[in-house]
Amino acid sequence: MAKTIAEGFFNDPRLEKAKKLIQEALTEHQTHINGVKPANPELKESYDTLLKKVAGFRGGALFYNYLGTGIGNGPFVELADGSVKYDFITGIGVHYMGHSHHGVIEAQINGAISNTVMNGHLQQNVDTAQLLEIFSHEACKYGAGIKNVFLSTSGAMANENAFKIIFQRRSPASRFFAFEKCFAGRTLGMAWVTDKAAYRAGLPKTIDVDYIPFYDANNHQGSIDAAVKVMKKYITRFPGHHAGFIMELIQGENGSWVGHTEFFEALIAVCKESNISVMVDEVQTFARTSELFAFQHFKLDKHVDVVTVGKNSQVCATLFTDDHKPKPGLMSQTFTGSAAQIAASHYVISSVVKGGYLGENGKIEKLHNRFKQNLEKISKKNPEKLSGPYGIGAMVAMTVFAGDEPKSKAFTMKLFENGVLSFMASGHPTTRVRFLMPVMATEEKHIDEVCEIIEKTLAEI
Ligand SMILES: Cc1ncc(COP(=O)(O)O)c(C=O)c1O
Repeated sequence: MAKTIAEGFFNDPRLEKAKKLIQEALTEHQTHINGVKPANPELKESYDTLLKKVAGFRGGALFYNYLGTGIGNGPFVELADGSVKYDFITGIGVHYMGHSHHGVIEAQINGAISNTVMNGHLQQNVDTAQLLEIFSHEACKYGAGIKNVFLSTSGAMANENAFKIIFQRRSPASRFFAFEKCFAGRTLGMAWVTDKAAYRAGLPKTIDVDYIPFYDANNHQGSIDAAVKVMKKYITRFPGHHAGFIMELIQGENGSWVGHTEFFEALIAVCKESNISVMVDEVQTFARTSELFAFQHFKLDKHVDVVTVGKNSQVCATLFTDDHKPKPGLMSQTFTGSAAQIAASHYVISSVVKGGYLGENGKIEKLHNRFKQNLEKISKKNPEKLSGPYGIGAMVAMTVFAGDEPKSKAFTMKLFENGVLSFMASGHPTTRVRFLMPVMATEEKHIDEVCEIIEKTLAEI
């Protein structure tokens, strides 16, 4: 006998039957999406009209002529012009599971048939409890103390919450450290953390940030010494004024620049001496290295005070130690996420944890190696056209045409036309082209084919 009405409802055999029918229909239709396909000329006019309409309503054209139909198959996505493309950027690192993933769809159906669209901080369903538990449990696996989890609806908001927690804990300190060329989001606060002038042009100043140069693998000790020196100089200039240090351990938006444990440890030592909180922004790195969290990959568990996640996690979150618990009143928001989103988030995270993705021999590492080997081969044949690859795990980048920005843009556009979605990381010190592949849906054969398309596209430019 069911103890709650819900138990009876969610286990009703009619629901099982309905879900089975949906999955059957999906399988039947998505089997037709099994490779790159050009656009259907008959749809050109209606597609162009639709793109213009969207551009008009949003006040500017889309970066790519991308409007999806709502169906895909693993790494393949169908667009409304009838074309099928390899999605190797996944909405800048969101569709970790690929397109129309059956497990994720089932999780979402379970969420969608629950009582509300959105869960909020005042009223949460039991699914939220499960999600909080998996975040907290996995984050503390190797001894980190960041067991508290506050859900939010964007990476920037997760970062805002992290900053609020740290500023309150270190009050009245009012400055922050960040790495040069970092990306932290686009709220008014984060626009002043993100190290890009264009992203805050015309905005009033919100946070005083002092920038530290990032790790340089070509100058290991030199870059460590330089960063520590700059940090100490700022601390001397503004004694007691720094509340925290936001660290992206692998700089994603800047083009997948990878840090180093010794580099981070040296800076963290200065933080600890000076009562500066250590915050790790994992909005892009979550579930993309050999460990679920990049701070675990770099073995920084004992040092982190606050961590933020987003993108792959489907629901964003701020994790923090007991020592950094905010006082009542500091944090609340209406939404934690939709019921479908929360169920999908739990599904994705538990799949990654259970499913052979992590570790030195996990899927993430295997996909990385295959991608790296293929790109190295292309680079050997075309040294003037492609260099790299760079990155780590499921963050892969390369330089085309020596990082020339207009040529890199022309390349990504042509690559899109030829059937592969990538994205640019502009400018510092050279433009890179990067990939955030759908790890759960990608196989080595897909990477081989994507690389064939990359080589073909290079030849065409
Ligand atoms: C490292 C990092 N932090 C924060 C953000 C902001 O996340 P969102 O776009 O969900 O606000 C991003 C987004 O790209 C990111 O890469």
